[in-house]
Amino acid sequence: MKRTIVTMPGDGIGKVVLDETLRVLDAAGFEADYVHADIGWEFWINEGNPLPQRTIDLLAEHKIGLFGAITSKPKDKAAEELKPELRDRGFVYSSPIVGLRQHFNLDICIRPCKSLPGNPLNFIRKDAQGGFEEPEIDVAIFRQNTEGLYVGVEWTNPPAEVRSALETHPRMKNFKSVPGEDLAISTRIFSRNACRRIMQAAFEYAKKFGYKSVTVCEKPNVIRETSGMMEDEARKVAKDFPGIELWSTNIDAQMMWLTKNPENYGVIVAGNMFGDIVSDGFAGLIGGLGFACSANIGEEVAVFEPTHGSAPKYETFDPSIVNPIAMMMSACMMLDHIGEVERATRIRKAIAAVVAEGKVKTYDMMKLPGRQEVISQGAATTQQVTDAIIGKL
Ligand code: NAI
Ligand code: MG
Repeated sequence: MKRTIVTMPGDGIGKVVLDETLRVLDAAGFEADYVHADIGWEFWINEGNPLPQRTIDLLAEHKIGLFGAITSKPKDKAAEELKPELRDRGFVYSSPIVGLRQHFNLDICIRPCKSLPGNPLNFIRKDAQGGFEEPEIDVAIFRQNTEGLYVGVEWTNPPAEVRSALETHPRMKNFKSVPGEDLAISTRIFSRNACRRIMQAAFEYAKKFGYKSVTVCEKPNVIRETSGMMEDEARKVAKDFPGIELWSTNIDAQMMWLTKNPENYGVIVAGNMFGDIVSDGFAGLIGGLGFACSANIGEEVAVFEPTHGSAPKYETFDPSIVNPIAMMMSACMMLDHIGEVERATRIRKAIAAVVAEGKVKTYDMMKLPGRQEVISQGAATTQQVTDAIIGKL
């Protein structure tokens, strides 16, 4: 059956890396109908909405989205760039990718971080003899994508009823004398259902891809209620997966162990903010933004995207210099998700072969500052990387 995939290039380099990725999917023999969907800055400027309803409708219909990246700008700047006839009509900018996650309840974010042998950006550390060793990292971070600190239930100068509700908690007594305008409050809200869903997804993934452990990375000794709920659900779900060990780490300690023994971890699960932190940390060990892929998965809809943004400074580079691998790896996650695991494996192998060979490298892999001149300094263009990967396929 031919799939329909909603493609959302978005802004800046999102357009570049998505086009290159479609070339690789074609070369791998993946047959799909691609429908373009509008998202990003252009639609904010011209329509006052970076996530038009027609895009939501397309995703609701076809369920699978491939997303490049969008540009977000601060509130004032956004208002300024709105086309004149839309100004002062009450349009307020908000990030369309966050909007998509909320609209479709894409609550499970998966960010795999796997080192590719030969990648010059791989993390190395000193060994006991004073030489160097390169740990082989293969971690998949499951980040709860819709709750926690990022929901935005927060106040400076909270309304009186919020304040008095909070004052029913004995620990609020320390803040009793703080004037409202000097008090900022953010809430960290977890729901049991969401904790259970992300745990279930993490254990299923561990089973499907042969990971031996699932680590809950929270802070239950201090943030007892929310982190504690995540741990409770982990213990319950773990009972159904007897072959997989359940570990628990604190986010702070995990950030230290990240460089000490990253090879020991398999699947890691965390709430929204800690998941954001720990996934960026691991991404840095395997090559950074040019390699960091992700999936946002809900009950019905799933959207696959590189973790990088639109890198506007490279938008107009011709030829393009950016690394398309993060987007291609995100497309591989899409293939896994729709049951095309074999094809995803072939593309991953082709990418790994190009990286291992080390002949075709984007500027980031050569550790050059991102300028147009990198091409004359021996860096590959985005298109040349794609061609090399297609050659391996
Ligand atoms: P960014 O990820 O766009 O770029 C940061 C830097 O990382 C770039 O300057 C470049 O040096 C490097 N980089 C990023 N992607 C790369 C690639 N594929 N190959 C090689 N190097 C790459 O983040 P930044 O500069 O903070 O934000 C730029 C815009 O992107 C902002 O408007 C921001 O709001 C937006 N953004 C969007 C995201 C999304 O669409 N999910 C995520 C992060 C930022
Ligand atoms: Mg982040």
